Amino acid sequence: MKVQKVTGYVGATISEVDLATCDDADTYRYIYRVLLENAVVFFRDQELSIERYLEFGRRFGELIRNNSPVIRTMADHPELEIIRKEADAISNIGDEWHTDQSHRPDPCMGTILYAVEVPSHGGDTLFANTAAAYDSLPDDLKQAVRGLRAVHSPEYLLRQTAERTGDPDKLFGSTRATSRPTTHPVVRVHPETGRKVLYVNPAYTENFEGQTPEQSQPLLQRLFSHVQRPEHYCRFRWRKGSLAFWDNRQAWHYAVNDYHGSAREMRRLIVRAPAHEPLAQAV
Ligand SMILES: [Fe+2]
Repeated sequence: MKVQKVTGYVGATISEVDLATCDDADTYRYIYRVLLENAVVFFRDQELSIERYLEFGRRFGELIRNNSPVIRTMADHPELEIIRKEADAISNIGDEWHTDQSHRPDPCMGTILYAVEVPSHGGDTLFANTAAAYDSLPDDLKQAVRGLRAVHSPEYLLRQTAERTGDPDKLFGSTRATSRPTTHPVVRVHPETGRKVLYVNPAYTENFEGQTPEQSQPLLQRLFSHVQRPEHYCRFRWRKGSLAFWDNRQAWHYAVNDYHGSAREMRRLIVRAPAHEPLAQAV
């Protein structure tokens, strides 16, 4: 197995491993270590059956269902989601920087995507390392976020989508604001690496706890701009058979919606942290 870093701070490509046949527990432990170090790992040219893909996901934790009525799931496998954009569709899921499930009290640990149909160009996904972003925050910003908590709201994401596309129903149907907002510390300690991470994102975070959006936005926008510095993110070009696995506790991602006229289909798994994982602490 070979590990090649994608950029200085985020992403690693793991090659010379066939996930369809590898059953060596040490190999998967090593993959997980590479994930913790790089926030996201990539594999190429994998040929995975549905069963084998599910097995891959289960090696890292319990697979959970999103329970979204607008996302299709595989027949007989409700934990395997089909993220498909048709050639004539306009809306794309995830074209805003976000952390999966940050609006939930107990967000998932990781997300896995496996490409089964990709456009000839476009449809890349960007990944940012929010631990690296915290490390490089100027001291005044580190001071400014100390002890703050932020509100993560699904309704805010829908409102932004409505403003951008003019027609959120196309994407979300009647599922708007399916869950209530929740709050998380702005700086959390990653439960496994011990690193501090910035835990706010542009899709779900409109304000700090105890502050209005107007009061919160100037600082939030500074944090968002900082995370989006090119040093902190990488861009992944999908091919059929590519697989990406990211750690939502220390990553943002962004699905670029620039492939109108082509279909794109991904199979998604959502992994809950192992039961023994201690809760991320506030600092
Ligand atoms: Fe996402």
